[in-house]
Amino acid sequence: MSAPAANRPGTGVFSPTRAQIPQRTLRTDNWLKSPILIDLGFAAFIIYATARAFQRDHFYVADYHYLTPFYSPCLSVKCGAASEFWPQILPADGLLSLIPYAALSLPFLLLFRLTCYYYRGAYYRTVWQSPTACAVAEPHAKYTGETRLPLIIQNTHRYFFYAAVLISLINTYDAIVAFRSPTGFGFGLGNLVLLGNVIMLWIYTVSCHSCRHVTGGRLKHFSKHPVRYWIWTQVSKLNTRHKLFAWITLGTLMFTDFYVMALSAGWFSDLRFVG
Ligand code: FES
Repeated sequence: MSAPAANRPGTGVFSPTRAQIPQRTLRTDNWLKSPILIDLGFAAFIIYATARAFQRDHFYVADYHYLTPFYSPCLSVKCGAASEFWPQILPADGLLSLIPYAALSLPFLLLFRLTCYYYRGAYYRTVWQSPTACAVAEPHAKYTGETRLPLIIQNTHRYFFYAAVLISLINTYDAIVAFRSPTGFGFGLGNLVLLGNVIMLWIYTVSCHSCRHVTGGRLKHFSKHPVRYWIWTQVSKLNTRHKLFAWITLGTLMFTDFYVMALSAGWFSDLRFVG
């Protein structure tokens, strides 16, 4: 049985080799503000997405084939034309009908975000308190990083990256087939909204740290792999702005869903340029 935390030799800021000061930190800046804002933004997204996923209504505009990303792929018998070739396996009645129609994609999308380096950096600082912040003592006696349960689970992020790529492909298909009108080809403001969302989703996904590893990780000689090196260089450039894309896609996803919901509910009409 290991000794109680208080009796164990401290590490990090509790290490005997560090200056022993009574204050938790001597920092005077508002070091908690940024991670709290990220947590709040992410929590707002989760609440909105969950509420919409369980609403099971106003997710599709049949005339223009606009499908919100929160319902794609649509797996319920109630999806109708919103599900062109996906099996409609969720029944209309009973307990199974309560499952969100996009049950195949939503859990992976949520876990992709939840394990994203950017978001985990924020909730490590605010909720988990390890590390709390630079030069701020944390309540844990020892820093173990992501080497133990439960944080070792974060290593699954690379697999959620692959799922996110597949889901981005599905969203791309949705955005392409939305160029419709009741008379054939059509193009409206909704198309711009769907396209903008899917482009930003791709940028966010490709700028992921796991993508950087997939494209250039483990290479010992970049000179022997010029194509992979070039791809890795481009991904690395996007990766430097991953935080920005994380925020933008929270906004574009919610806005796209809201736009489709508003059209479907008849709150206003789509601005049509063609058809
Ligand atoms: S999605 Fe943010 S690090 Fe992978």
